[in-house]
Amino acid sequence: MNYPKQLVEAVKQKMNGHNLEGFLSGKGPKNAVLMLIGEAPGGTEIKTKIPFSGRSGKKLDGWLAQSGLCREDIYITSTVRSRPFSIKKELNKKTGFFETKYPNRAPNKTEVLAYAPLLDYEIQMVQPKILVPMGNTGLKRLLGKNYTISMCHGQLLHSPILMYSNEQEQLIKTNNTYTLFPIYHPAAIFYNQKLETIIESDWSTLAAFIKQYN
Ligand code: URA
Repeated sequence: MNYPKQLVEAVKQKMNGHNLEGFLSGKGPKNAVLMLIGEAPGGTEIKTKIPFSGRSGKKLDGWLAQSGLCREDIYITSTVRSRPFSIKKELNKKTGFFETKYPNRAPNKTEVLAYAPLLDYEIQMVQPKILVPMGNTGLKRLLGKNYTISMCHGQLLHSPILMYSNEQEQLIKTNNTYTLFPIYHPAAIFYNQKLETIIESDWSTLAAFIKQYN
C-alpha cells in the first residue's frame, strides 16, 4: 500500500522518541475479500518487508492452506506499522558481561492511536468484505476495549468500527456497519498449544463464509 505521504509523516512525528523500529506497509490486492489485521510487525517482518513472514506467519500460512485460502488473494496488515521494542539489560552467563536486548513488546494505547489513520486509510482503499482482526490488539482497535478475542473469535459480527477523528483526536464509531470475523493471533499458540484446534476450526468456518463472495 502506498499511503499518502502526509499521513505517514504525521505518524512519524507523533512517534518521535518511542521505541519503535522500521516501517512495514500493508500488502495485498485492492478489493481483497479478506483483510487480516495483526498487532505489529516483528524483527523478521521489518527485515523482509513482508507481513507475517516470521514464526507466526508460518503458522498462518499453514491454516490458510488447510482452509483452501491463498495469501495472494488476501490483504494483510497490522494495527501498528513499526516494531515496538523494549530495552533490557541481561547477564550473559557464558561471558559474564551484561548485554542489551531489544525484545518485541505489544504496542501501547498512544501508539495504536497514532497509527490509526493508516489502518483507516487501508480499510477505505481496499474495502474488504470481511475484516479479520487477529488477536486482541486488532480487535480492540476496531471494536473497543470491551471486546476480547476469547469472547468473540470464530463469530461473524456486524458492527460499526472505530476510526480516528482528527477533530476529536480519538477513535470514534463509524456510521457504517462492517462485517468482522475475529480470530486468535497465530502467536497465541506459542503460549497455549491447545488453541491450535480452535484456530484451525475458525479458519475453516471463515473459508466457508467467504465462498459466498467468490
Ligand atoms: N505479528 C503481527 O501482528 N504482524 C506481523 O507481520 C507479524 C507478527
